[in-house]
Amino acid sequence: MATLTDLGFCQNTIYETIICTFNPDGSPNVAPMGAIVKGNQKVLLTIYNSSRTLENLRATKAATLNLTDDVDVYYVSALKKSEVSTDWFRNSSVVNAPKLKVCDASVALSVDSVEPIDMLRTAVMCSIECINVFKMYPRAYCRAWSAVLEAIIYATRVKVLSGVEAERVHVIELCRLIQNCVDVVNRSAPDSHYVDLMLDLQEKVGFWSVNI
Ligand SMILES: Cc1cc2nc3c(=O)[nH]c(=O)nc-3n(C[C@H](O)[C@H](O)[C@H](O)COP(=O)(O)O)c2cc1C
Repeated sequence: MATLTDLGFCQNTIYETIICTFNPDGSPNVAPMGAIVKGNQKVLLTIYNSSRTLENLRATKAATLNLTDDVDVYYVSALKKSEVSTDWFRNSSVVNAPKLKVCDASVALSVDSVEPIDMLRTAVMCSIECINVFKMYPRAYCRAWSAVLEAIIYATRVKVLSGVEAERVHVIELCRLIQNCVDVVNRSAPDSHYVDLMLDLQEKVGFWSVNI
């Protein structure tokens, strides 16, 4: 079996991944989540309490961590859940969780512990049960890819924090950072799918932050 080190993971570093879990009705749920490798066989997730993924992890004690560089998977699963199709998934044969059909690698996880961090977030420690690697070819790198990913992360924070008065300054800063990402995308990939994605994202952020 491949190890997380083979996949480029280093200790105590946050990697952006796609976490799949089952909802209470048995339907699949998918969300981008940062993952930190701890020791040889553990992965730590830090999850906002409002997240459905956290509820599902508590209930099923299982998930798959999926690696992909398809920015649409991040965008749709973070901000446009209604567009996620059940065709995206197949069931893991190792843990009680769905996994992405199309991804570069998939890691089956079982939940060891769920501990509160603060009022907003919870730490979930998981054990690695199995790693499957599918990727064959490297992808050429474009700055717009990282800029879009950063912007999606900021946007999900705006969504969670825009109603919290104490986070007002933070939300204004997040909106400024999103604008920075828009500038990078417009420079490095004009007339691309990335530009359309950012326009859509800005519309959503404008809606969430309208009262700031
Ligand atoms: C790249 C990326 C990384 C993210 N990492 C986290 C994370 O570590 N913890 C978290 O709670 N939300 C994170 N988010 C935000 C969630 O994916 C987002 O709030 C999502 O809608 C939660 O879905 P859920 O309610 O189905 O769990 C991240 C978003 C992106 C785009």
